[in-house]
Amino acid sequence: MTRKIVTLGDEALRKTCKRMEKFDLRLWLLLRDMKETMNKADGVGLAAPQVGILRRVVVIDVGEGLIELVNPEIIETSGEQAGAEGCLSIPGRRGFVVRPAKVKVRAQDRNGKHFEIEGEGLLARALCHEIDHLDGKLYIDVMDHEIFDDEE
Ligand code: CO
Repeated sequence: MTRKIVTLGDEALRKTCKRMEKFDLRLWLLLRDMKETMNKADGVGLAAPQVGILRRVVVIDVGEGLIELVNPEIIETSGEQAGAEGCLSIPGRRGFVVRPAKVKVRAQDRNGKHFEIEGEGLLARALCHEIDHLDGKLYIDVMDHEIFDDEE
């Protein structure tokens, strides 16, 4: 089941989300719905607050398969990359954002098991962007400038 994606102006996007403590059917249904919602919207990532759920849950798919992250934390970053970024909660806009070139993230899976994942390029960008959502941060807060269609 897809859920409604909230957009800029909705309070849910500005809240600090709570850690997920229970790894049960409720979480699994949320993960399923978030994946379906992300795919339908043609996005590469979605954070729970974007569907109005104030929990630390993220899904990402940059074309290398689905990644589910529960209670994710960035534990290491290196380098820098600059590029265009958008957000399903801010439709029709894009910004130029500098992010780390590589990140290492520690998270839990849908059963509560801890794991680490490393990403570079688009995956590193998506990890930073989605984890920011869990603390009420949006790319427009950190972007260098807005990108308009006549640029590039
Ligand atoms: Co976003």
